[in-house]
Amino acid sequence: RAGVVRIPVVVHVVHRTAEEDVSDEQVRSQIEVLNRDFRRRNPDVDQVPEVFADLVADAGIEFEPATTDPDGGPTDGITRTRTTASSFADDDRIKSAGTGGADAWPSERYLNLWVGRLSGGLLGYAQFPGGPPETDGVVIAHTAFGTLGTAAEPFDLGRTATHEVGHWLNLRHIWGDDGTGCSGSDFVDDTPNQAGENTGRPRFPSVSCDNAPNGDLFMNYMDYVDDVAMFMFTNGQAQRMQACLDNDRRSFVE
Ligand code: ARG
Ligand code: ZN
Ligand code: CA
Repeated sequence: RAGVVRIPVVVHVVHRTAEEDVSDEQVRSQIEVLNRDFRRRNPDVDQVPEVFADLVADAGIEFEPATTDPDGGPTDGITRTRTTASSFADDDRIKSAGTGGADAWPSERYLNLWVGRLSGGLLGYAQFPGGPPETDGVVIAHTAFGTLGTAAEPFDLGRTATHEVGHWLNLRHIWGDDGTGCSGSDFVDDTPNQAGENTGRPRFPSVSCDNAPNGDLFMNYMDYVDDVAMFMFTNGQAQRMQACLDNDRRSFVE
């Protein structure tokens, strides 16, 4: 495809406390991170080890706050919903007004991104393409959202949304979701086979599954490292996301 795909985003802020009612500025900080990370404009990309430099991709996808709501009226792309729920889990209750959350906007026209307090240390979760429209989108904890306000270290660089939007565009975890085995796949050709997830701030190289000398591509957005330690998608991942935009999510390019 020639040119960049632009995805309208609606951010549904679901809050009980004042702190959970994250600011417009915090929302903007998150959208900026997405636009940097999916266009290879993130300044930390220069930390990719030399041996992996050829893999680094511009995914060619940008995100813009929705300017028109589902009824055709003007919007700033942010909805604010008061809730009595003290927290949410990965059960989609945040996605429905009937369960203390906010209803999705039509998922063929908007990326729905819900922000709220999540329980049990959950940073976020995503729905893969092909699922029910009412629950389509990504959910991000208010403590892992954007780069200011309630965003808290080590998840305060907006990378949880980068990771979850990767899933929303059909990317799998880079280690293949097979526990720590070497038989799982992320169905991407240019990512090294990797045993399990990496966490924290690994030191290069981190070898597993006979992938010496370069080891795991732990600095990839689809691993589980800290925000400061992840800074790239690969060409293969970019292709897989673009294939998703040709198929399940083609409504965003038509
Ligand atoms: N779904 C993952 C979780 O909730 C998100 C991991 C995001 N990683 C990050 N460095 N922000 O654990
Ligand atoms: Zn994930
Ligand atoms: Ca594996």
